[in-house]
Amino acid sequence: MTEKLSPATFIGVGGSDIISFGSGQPDLPPPHEVFECIKDYKCFKYGPIPGQQNLREALAAQNPGFSFENFVVTNGASEALDLTLRAIAKPKDKIMLHVPYYYSYKPLVEMNHLEPSFVNTVEGKIDISDFEEKVHSVKAVLINSPSNPTGRVQGVKTLKFIEKMTRDLDITLISDEVYKDLIYERENYALSGPHIVTVNSFSKTFSMCGLRIGYLFSNDLSIVKKAVDIKTHTSMNTSIISQEMALAATRVPHKFVEQQVSVWRERRDTIYRGLLDLGLELWKPEGAFYVLPKIENSEQFVLDMFKKHKVITYPGEWFGAPGRVRFSYALDKEKIEQGLKRLGEYLKL
Ligand SMILES: Cc1ncc(COP(=O)(O)O)c(C=O)c1O
Repeated sequence: MTEKLSPATFIGVGGSDIISFGSGQPDLPPPHEVFECIKDYKCFKYGPIPGQQNLREALAAQNPGFSFENFVVTNGASEALDLTLRAIAKPKDKIMLHVPYYYSYKPLVEMNHLEPSFVNTVEGKIDISDFEEKVHSVKAVLINSPSNPTGRVQGVKTLKFIEKMTRDLDITLISDEVYKDLIYERENYALSGPHIVTVNSFSKTFSMCGLRIGYLFSNDLSIVKKAVDIKTHTSMNTSIISQEMALAATRVPHKFVEQQVSVWRERRDTIYRGLLDLGLELWKPEGAFYVLPKIENSEQFVLDMFKKHKVITYPGEWFGAPGRVRFSYALDKEKIEQGLKRLGEYLKL
């Protein structure tokens, strides 16, 4: 292994012959309505730091019990996560992450001078006894269901347990729900409590990742206010044209999301079945668009697959899961099948 791999090695890398199971960005187009609304758009001035009120009202209408004042519109879920961590914690506070985790969580925690506290999972599901043991020492718990990189969805019983435990201990619960609309195996469970911060985004459900539009909301208005204070002196308002497009997305009939989910489910079935047929050990994805099979020497595998077979995958090391490799199935069925064929050729060598 001579080359140090990082997400930057692959982000934006493409070409007609490359099959990319790398980046987690949907290939499906956004709803056409989001482009129609900007044809005559003329606004160019700074916008309100917490976000345009009409968008915040539309988001509140989708989340019973909340008003627009509970919302901050951000540069993707990424900024919402950063603002939340900065708003709630002071240096050296511990933030609980379940392993495997989204690859930005650990750097985000560390860059904010905080410390990750890792909780185990069993087949991608949070290990409740490990959680119970470690939760007392943390400032906040960050959960992500459906998960990137496992595609697993936490059970309702687990979510209720975490909800109660964090409420009883007065611990902030940050719920990264960017894949909440992309669940195949069960209905969603909406967490509720005084110190829950929910993070979401238009990147995945509406395929609008490059527009950088996300949001956070919480009943705890002190966290919302602190997030706005930080944003005032950092990124200021989120792109107002993206907010206009997001507003149009909130008005799109729910059928749009249902159609997306049926495409994702078919792809999930193709890759899951294909990887099993190649003899790989993996957990069945229940949501999102990732799968994390066991593959030995995962970094070497990723390098070889890229250099020799023109297939991009991400090593489990980035997600706290060495010995596994993440495949994003955000590409059409034909390409998934072609990628599986190349993988089969590699595994036969
Ligand atoms: C779990 C998770 N959270 C947050 C993000 C960042 O999303 P956004 O594009 O909204 O910043 C991603 C992107 O892949 C993700 O997988």
